[in-house]
Amino acid sequence: MSARLWFCWGFLPLGALLLMGASRIHTHPAPGNLPLMVVFSAEQHGYLTPCGCSKPMLGGMPRRGEYLSQLAQKYSLIRVENGNLTKALDRQDELKAETLIEMFNAMNYDAINLGDKDFRLGLNYLLALEKRSKTPFLCANVQRQGALVFKPSVEVERDHEGKAQRFLIVGVVSEKGEAKIKSVNPDLTVQPVSEALQAMHETLSKPDTVKILLFQGRRADAEQIAKDHPQFHMIVYAQEGDHYSPARTVGQTVLVCNGQDGKYMGQSKLSANPDARLGQIEYVALGPDYADSSLIMQIKMAYLSRVEAENLLGQVQKRPTLNGDTFAGSAACEPCHQQDYRIWKASRHGDALKTLEDDKHDKDPECVVCHVVGLDMVSGFRNMQETPNLKDVGCESCHGPAAKHVKDPTIQLGKAGMDSCMQCHVPQHSPRFDFDTYWEKIKHGGSK
Ligand code: HEC
Ligand code: HEC
Ligand code: HEC
Ligand code: HEC
Repeated sequence: MSARLWFCWGFLPLGALLLMGASRIHTHPAPGNLPLMVVFSAEQHGYLTPCGCSKPMLGGMPRRGEYLSQLAQKYSLIRVENGNLTKALDRQDELKAETLIEMFNAMNYDAINLGDKDFRLGLNYLLALEKRSKTPFLCANVQRQGALVFKPSVEVERDHEGKAQRFLIVGVVSEKGEAKIKSVNPDLTVQPVSEALQAMHETLSKPDTVKILLFQGRRADAEQIAKDHPQFHMIVYAQEGDHYSPARTVGQTVLVCNGQDGKYMGQSKLSANPDARLGQIEYVALGPDYADSSLIMQIKMAYLSRVEAENLLGQVQKRPTLNGDTFAGSAACEPCHQQDYRIWKASRHGDALKTLEDDKHDKDPECVVCHVVGLDMVSGFRNMQETPNLKDVGCESCHGPAAKHVKDPTIQLGKAGMDSCMQCHVPQHSPRFDFDTYWEKIKHGGSK
């Protein structure tokens, strides 16, 4: 490994190396004669890195960076992304979209298709985002006043074992997403995919070109497209859950889907068979075997700084508490419940915000919500300066706000139990949760 690195670096003057290191992932100069591989993925959904709540977890852009630079040593790569970069719900998703574009810039992507969720960011925002992108945004079937807003396709040429090979990459979004797209962009219309592809007939007939369709839509519709438009060698589809789907073929078209959240990457070697140019499909789990690319990690850390600078933590919507009481903080319980307090303090709940500080996620509302008391409630955690007594998963995370009980202990609190746990121990963050075994580790309340 280190010998190969040394060998490649020997080709480059130091200045060039620093320059590349500064802005792009080190992809190694292609020595020529490399075979060609297409790498595809979709629906990153704003999942920049695994949260780390349980281990091991799959996915994350820093691992993708490392995966791609390993592949680039052996293959000439085409890199395509099939849309829905984020869930497009709020300001944090805008920051994530901008961060992802910087990451794709650093990873030399060739095409980014747009999904219905991307359009939910708003057309003007998307156009501004496209200006920051070195990679073209594709959409062959969304129009404004009868004209396409984004490029329908992009042509790419790459070396395949010493010879140039042409690719045509087309992007479309399922017309089933029209209502969602129009709810934010009333002046846009979504043309049926088959109509849009019909209109591209001439482009799609180009000889000696490998044709890939990025389709932001479901498998059944992808199969229909493959029947109606057999020119495509590969259709990348989406919306199948977070696991990859086995490749299938319709005629000479191979249909592929790597699943949501970027946990798996799809890859396909170019084969010599002219009827099945993209035959061999493999899916690769982005597990801890892939180290984090330090460049992509830097971009992620810059994102966290923006989350902090914009004080997203301070802008979380607060709803009223269920029992109308306010939070008192765990320290207020200690004088009367000393043993419960000791057990709690020694448990992992008693240090849960520190865990986020160590990961630099302690100003990130997406994480803080489950690692403190009542972030999304009136009188709950705001920040370490104003509400230090509500840091960590405290007594009131499970027993509910208890200020009245603190003043007058004859005022009873609601029963805590399994339901309290399920606010936070959801499968995505605590896949091994089981009430009996988990309660055993934190049990208390026997004596006061
Ligand atoms: C829906 C609630 C929830 C959210 C949101 C959440 N966490 Fe967690 N986190 C948990 C729970 C529950 C555990 C304990 C899981 C277990 O042990 O079963 C945990 C544990 C952890 C741990 C400790 C893992 C270990 O074993 O040492 C880390 C680190 C962590 N979370 C980081 C984060 C980060 C970073 C984010 C945001 C990107 C985040 N969490 C968002 C609920 C959440
Ligand atoms: C992770 C959730 C959780 C945390 C944190 C927690 N508790 Fe509990 N507690 C429970 C559950 C569940 C029970 C058992 C069910 C019950 O009796 O309400 C319980 C039981 C109790 C009881 C006995 C209830 C009874 O009816 O006899 C007391 C008192 C108590 N907790 C106080 C505390 C105090 C004080 C703290 C903080 C120092 C705390 N708890 C932290 C979940 C929690
Ligand atoms: C001034 C003393 C005092 C303080 C402070 C206090 N408690 Fe209590 N707590 C009691 C007493 C006494 C009981 C038993 C009351 C009873 O049995 O009627 C009790 C009972 C409980 C119970 C079990 C019965 C119930 O009401 O559900 C829970 C849970 C509880 N306390 C949680 C808390 C939490 C959480 C805090 C801090 C926010 C807290 N207590 C603060 C004195 C206190
Ligand atoms: C407000 C969110 C929240 C609630 C409610 C909650 N937890 Fe947790 N729990 C966490 C977080 C976050 C961690 C990880 C803390 C860390 O390591 O930083 C955790 C960790 C744990 C752990 C340690 C896991 C390990 O592997 O050692 C146990 C056990 C646990 N919780 C049990 C419970 C039980 C039982 C309940 C319900 C009675 C409960 N939790 C309710 C957020 C919560």
